[in-house]
Amino acid sequence: MTLTFIGHGYVGLVTACILADFGNNVWVIGHTQEKIDRLKKGDPIIFEPGLTELLHKNLKANRIRFTLDYDQAIPQSQIVFIAVGTPSTNGGDADLSAVFKVAKRIAKHLGTEFTTISCKSTVPVGTNKKIESILQAEKGRNTSVAVASCPEFLREGSAIYDTLNPDRIVIGCDSKKAADLLLELHRPINGKRVVTDLASAELIKYTANAMLATKISFANLISFFCEKTGADVENVLDAVGLDKRIGRIFMDPGVGYGGSCLPKDVRALTRMGFNLNINTDFLENINDINISAQKYFIQKILNNAKSKKVTIWGLTFKPNTDDVREAPSLFIISALLKNKYKISVYDPVGISNVKQEFGDRIKYFEDPYGALQDSSALIILTEWNEFRQVDLGKIKKTMRHPLIIDGRNIYNPDLMKKLGFKYYSVGRKPIK
Ligand code: UGA
Repeated sequence: MTLTFIGHGYVGLVTACILADFGNNVWVIGHTQEKIDRLKKGDPIIFEPGLTELLHKNLKANRIRFTLDYDQAIPQSQIVFIAVGTPSTNGGDADLSAVFKVAKRIAKHLGTEFTTISCKSTVPVGTNKKIESILQAEKGRNTSVAVASCPEFLREGSAIYDTLNPDRIVIGCDSKKAADLLLELHRPINGKRVVTDLASAELIKYTANAMLATKISFANLISFFCEKTGADVENVLDAVGLDKRIGRIFMDPGVGYGGSCLPKDVRALTRMGFNLNINTDFLENINDINISAQKYFIQKILNNAKSKKVTIWGLTFKPNTDDVREAPSLFIISALLKNKYKISVYDPVGISNVKQEFGDRIKYFEDPYGALQDSSALIILTEWNEFRQVDLGKIKKTMRHPLIIDGRNIYNPDLMKKLGFKYYSVGRKPIK
């Protein structure tokens, strides 16, 4: 098949590369010449494990092409995927301006054959109907077109694995012809198929992300109980998670969920509920607990660091990505800067994105131990694997005061005690 992707972010580029790898002829449309030139040269722009290799392989085989020109790609495509961002507006709604803008442009360039427009962007219920109206209003007379909502469930950091091994493939569509085409396109991939209507597909995506956020906020709420009562959150959640009805997966307490999806999607679902006159206190509480998790953690730093010189390891919103959108690190660094802290940071891949945010207001290091010189607290905000078995003896020797404040519970409190560290983690007794 010939396919076009509009957008080359974590969803668009990964899915485009995988579908090219299956033998499809794939176009990717961007909107800045500089990025298109980099992509043509094999630079994926974002960091996602395995993506560079996959991109190089398919560029070499001429199965993936990058362009700014809609006319080069759209008329010959059977399926056009919309994979542009839908960030939060100031009021918390999903900003749909990019989606509607590209829908208009697609309409103007449709060829004479039947085309399926498949929306992968996360959009509120009713958006795909609006896309349909835009296409009908703007397209040429001899063109037939159908709209499908194909929400994406991949996680950053494991995007290639997730796309190849999905739990489900959701296709929301009123046209049997378009649904069959999408089923055929996904034939090489396992996973349950859910073919449904547009509204249900749109709501499935928000429901999934809101449920995931609920699990994390619940774990964080229980961690607050543990800290006040002396219980151990890991023991509590491990035992509770043994109940198969509940499960333990995706219930790790920490510094709150971040990223470009869960925070904005909980807010957008809240706004959708408000517009539908539905009580959304529950969703607002999920968001409030997330903010509390970050604030509690900041308080631990303010209460326990002996000087205002501290070190942060881990800046990205999760490991194996360079993405810092709504990363807890940004919130925590801003709060520490307000309190006049001097901050040294280390992250394996996230430094350049954080630099755009804070410039020279903090100090950046390429070596984790270098960042610890004279420091009174090592603060862990992302559970990168390389932090799990570091040389704790070297850390202790390098720091001014041996204090670790661990936002991801990656170290064993007993070991910390044995090695002579002060150690604060989440929902577990501090080692003083
Ligand atoms: C999330 C969903 O997991 C994907 O299924 C979905 O496709 C994606 O959003 C999207 O809508 O595009 P992602 O944001 O990449 O994926 O990352 P997650 O693995 O969900 O992690 C989100 C945040 O939750 C991270 O900050 C992570 O540290 C935090 N988290 C996760 C916890 O604090 N505790 C946990 O137990 C799990």
